[in-house]
Amino acid sequence: MAKVLLDKSKRDWWKSAVFYQIYPKSFQDTTGSGVGDLRGIISKLDYLENLGIDGIWLSPVCASPQVDNGYDISDYCAIDPMFGTMEDMEELIAEGKKRGISIIFDLVLNHSSDQHKWFKEALKGKDNPYHDYYIWREGDENTPPNDMRATFGGSAWTYVPELKEWYFHQFAVEQPDLNWENPKMREDIYKMIRFWVEKGIEGFRLDVIDQIGKDPDLQITCNGPKLHDYFRELSAKAFIEEGIVSVGEAWGANTERAKLYSAPDGSELSMVFQFEHICLDQEPGKDKWDMIPLSLPKLKDCYRRWQQELHGCGWNSLFFNNHDLPRVVSRWGNDKEYRVESAKMLATMLHGMEGTPYIYQGEELGMTNICLPIEKHVDLETLNVYKERVGLGYDPEEVMKSIHARSRDNGRTPMQWTDGLNGGFTEGTPWVSVNENYKEINAEAALKDLDSVFYYYKKLIDLRKTYPVFSDGSFTLLCPEDEKVFAYTRDTENAHMLVVCNFTGETLEFEIPEEYHGSEMLIGNYSEYAPELRPYEAVILYYEG
Ligand code: GLC
Repeated sequence: MAKVLLDKSKRDWWKSAVFYQIYPKSFQDTTGSGVGDLRGIISKLDYLENLGIDGIWLSPVCASPQVDNGYDISDYCAIDPMFGTMEDMEELIAEGKKRGISIIFDLVLNHSSDQHKWFKEALKGKDNPYHDYYIWREGDENTPPNDMRATFGGSAWTYVPELKEWYFHQFAVEQPDLNWENPKMREDIYKMIRFWVEKGIEGFRLDVIDQIGKDPDLQITCNGPKLHDYFRELSAKAFIEEGIVSVGEAWGANTERAKLYSAPDGSELSMVFQFEHICLDQEPGKDKWDMIPLSLPKLKDCYRRWQQELHGCGWNSLFFNNHDLPRVVSRWGNDKEYRVESAKMLATMLHGMEGTPYIYQGEELGMTNICLPIEKHVDLETLNVYKERVGLGYDPEEVMKSIHARSRDNGRTPMQWTDGLNGGFTEGTPWVSVNENYKEINAEAALKDLDSVFYYYKKLIDLRKTYPVFSDGSFTLLCPEDEKVFAYTRDTENAHMLVVCNFTGETLEFEIPEEYHGSEMLIGNYSEYAPELRPYEAVILYYEG
């Protein structure tokens, strides 16, 4: 099956595209350093072309002290030597283009590293021109301006005695927030973005972008009053070319907000990463470590709302995994006896919807979570929550249970390429543990097996680019209260498709609507069609007329 190439001169080409996220540190090492690099990505472009994807969302590769794995940038226009050189980056862009693969750069615009020259200058004094690139409040050293908490634990304010001022950081102490109120700071950001566009970057993923309009005095983090003004300015000044794709990470987005973000006139962004579905299996009002079982009717209702409310007036992205999330097959599937079936079922449910799908590295192999003792964890958020909760008197075993289910390290274990040393990721010592199941789950084995999760994703990608109903069809949820089956239809005037997914390891009855009797099966995870739904079965039926 040859890859279907999209015409990227079309304004909304990304509406029928499928993207693939690479977390460079864990993708492919070519130097033996134990850390993935740009040349490693170049060496795997043929693999990605074979899968059929249209673009790579590349997690940050800019210069960084790596306190938060590159989400703390010290120079936006330099490549971190750990990943390679600017020439490697240019080669990656050029080699990607040859294969119809665009590079989508990760822009961390909410904060920089404390090692960025802007922050170093800012520390020199209140009169320094860069001081106002960050958010400061005066005060005495014992009283932070307010009790806002940082996402990675502790206060969101850090005191600088020399200045007698506190600076704001929503994440780590080493990630001071940029002051978007300052037009000079914004102009420097746009200049930097243009630098990358001129290098051939064709899109941007905008890290925690719904926080740039924050108002720390009112304790507003997401969705601040000027947020959409900033987006419009960003779009007008930096994303000038029509084909540039932009996707905003927005934990605080609801459907109304998302419609603004992704308004069809292109005045803000192309699409949004929203997280409502991801938060359904945590206790309302608490954080991700406080888990509750997933309710399928709630999940279905969430998707229904997003599908229906954005149809024709906004655009969503479709994803289960990224570098901050656990592996979906371990989370909502069955990563033991039905690993392959449930990985394919989940993919079917997601890729049948309207939006732009994002596949996270290893998802196309059905990679799973990892179970590590705390000493082997490396993610600062994970280490902080362990310390914080055990300190507060939580049972360490319970804390570890939630870490095994939710830690960001689950998604960051190295890509499993072969059954050889370290899964073929590195010949050195990997920076984070390799999942032992690489002997069974790896790309080499998947490529040899026509029934693998890999080929299933390849087919889903191909279907999206072949049948317009995948991107254009309206969405209708079937059996909303059913706790085991997720079924929906997608319709355009003359094309109709039915997606049915069994979310359990049981065999179930399911009545196929009459109009689909005798229709074509576009894809399914069991070789033949049967009247009942087998464990984790998924199928897409289709007819025209
Ligand atoms: C985003 C990134 C995450 C990072 C945080 C701070 O949520 O995806 O990895 O830690 O922003 O930049």
